[in-house]
Amino acid sequence: MCGIVGYVGPRDVRSLLIGGLRLLEYRGYDSAGIALACATELRHTKRAGRLANLETALAAVPASETPEAAGMAHTRWATHGAPTDTNAHPHFDEAGAIAVIHNGIIENHAELRIALEARGHRFNTEVDTEVIAHLIEESYQGDLREAFEKSVGQLKGQWALLAMHRDEPGRIVAARREAPLAVGLGKGEQFIASDPVAILEYTNQIVFLRDGDLVDVKVDGITFYDASGAVFSPRPETLTWSPETAQKDGYAHFFRKEIDEQPRTLKAALAGRVSGTTIRLPELDTAGIDVANLRTVEFIACGSAYYATLAAAALAESLLGIPVRCTVASEFRYAPPRLDARTLVIAISQSGETADTLGAVRAARAAGAIVLGIVNAAGSTLTREATVSVMLQAGPEISVAATKSYTSQALVAEVVALDLARLAGRLDPTTEAEWARDLANVPELATAALAASESLPAIAAKYHGSTGYTFISRGPGSATALEGALKLKELSYLHAEAYPAGELKHGPISLLGPTHPVVAILLEGPTRTKLESNIMESRARSAPILAIATEGIDTRSLADDVVVIPAARQEIASLIAAIPLQRFAYEMALLEGADIDQPKNLAKSVTVE
Ligand code: AGP
Ligand code: GLU
Repeated sequence: MCGIVGYVGPRDVRSLLIGGLRLLEYRGYDSAGIALACATELRHTKRAGRLANLETALAAVPASETPEAAGMAHTRWATHGAPTDTNAHPHFDEAGAIAVIHNGIIENHAELRIALEARGHRFNTEVDTEVIAHLIEESYQGDLREAFEKSVGQLKGQWALLAMHRDEPGRIVAARREAPLAVGLGKGEQFIASDPVAILEYTNQIVFLRDGDLVDVKVDGITFYDASGAVFSPRPETLTWSPETAQKDGYAHFFRKEIDEQPRTLKAALAGRVSGTTIRLPELDTAGIDVANLRTVEFIACGSAYYATLAAAALAESLLGIPVRCTVASEFRYAPPRLDARTLVIAISQSGETADTLGAVRAARAAGAIVLGIVNAAGSTLTREATVSVMLQAGPEISVAATKSYTSQALVAEVVALDLARLAGRLDPTTEAEWARDLANVPELATAALAASESLPAIAAKYHGSTGYTFISRGPGSATALEGALKLKELSYLHAEAYPAGELKHGPISLLGPTHPVVAILLEGPTRTKLESNIMESRARSAPILAIATEGIDTRSLADDVVVIPAARQEIASLIAAIPLQRFAYEMALLEGADIDQPKNLAKSVTVE
């Protein structure tokens, strides 16, 4: 996936675009590039690697004599072709008259390329996107929009696409299909971006384009065309995010800042939903789902979002009394279970743009299932494709590795499970009141878990240098073990695995020893004593033990190091226990000198399969 930003107007185009890319780098950082409309030519600069490389290269390019009328820029997460200078976007036709930037995959690029080459076109890069520039060149007769529309009509796949022509400075045309794209409306200036965060400094009047939309952007206004080619006039949304929320607030890393935001984001997740003795999701009240008549519930998600489904699914099954399953979206999509109008699919995604999750959602909807999205990014594709969406309200998450979105996903999924049970008539008022009280405590518990995490720099220093790490727990804590191990892997590139503790003796125990510690998530609950036995089995193999334990458990004979988190019911304690594990991963990554906010090989929202 890539980050795209475009601008038409009188401001300094270069610095506006670079500022926008900075806020979009979370979407990919294999390379970056920029195209600028100067009086008689399209100038471009592109560089492999981080945005800083492009900035250095641009600093050496003299300013143009006349101000640039428009420009567009791109930060890449490569799918086709190595992340080199040449393969960076923008891509051009042979004459350098047409520039194109693209987020997505052109699935029929190979056949288009063969046909174009047969017609005499010469290609400069290995990237799928380049075919589009040549297609536009073939049909261009003085009107970029017309040629663009014809070319887009020949594409298969996913795209957010911007194009400029040398002979039409001050004009950008753009289209989207299955990749995010928003336009920002200004007075005497217009903006385009993959994520509005890149343009919020200038306008909060945002139109999220729909699949099939095409826009013709000029300084004095934007013409919108729908999938049938008809002109329409959308009503912009007024976004209330402040651009500052996307800044680091003095922290060295977004990851660390986002860990600390959790008391606030968890509070926001509950706002308007849990109060006094009641649990009510207004979104579900009006969705008209016949919950009592459901046959099954299927949770689908990827990565951390998938782990966030696990405890909620177990809760939903125990409350609803019907089968509830969790499936990784990329598996669900190609081997779906029986789906029909009595199936509720709950899709969880921070970005709302994860291709695997969206593919699974489309398969589910096509089979007639009801889809409930649990999403953070407002206006994202999932919010538009789900039958009903419940928002996390966590604000933008910039660090590539999830923190606050994970705890909010786990929490909101549990609130959804409880509210579904209420709607099905299976949550008695006493149980509802007890849960409401416990849920309302979550932000406070998160504050306490943050305070307890202050011991982690010293603990991490002690464990640093181990050969590997095995995370264990039982019940809802097993999800936390998976998330803790993923965080450590993603951030520090150290090897870590997670197992339900009972599985240790079936294989992984052979790894344990003085240089291979166990991280145990030890929560009060029905399987606590069983987990304690598994910890003792690990100690007997000389593995150092770091426990994240709820208050009140006597860990003296169990663990070498303990982080005590407040006692709470397992479903809640398990999500709170993720907080010290995030900090553990952070401290380890600092010790490893890793790139914390942008770990290698990763991207924030994975918009390809
Ligand atoms: C976790 O830190 C992420 N690297 C990743 O696993 C993420 O949770 C996953 O890609 C799903 O993203 P989404 O929530 O935006 O759909
Ligand atoms: N397919 C294009 C490339 O490889 C865009 C990649 C993307 O959006 O992830 O550069």
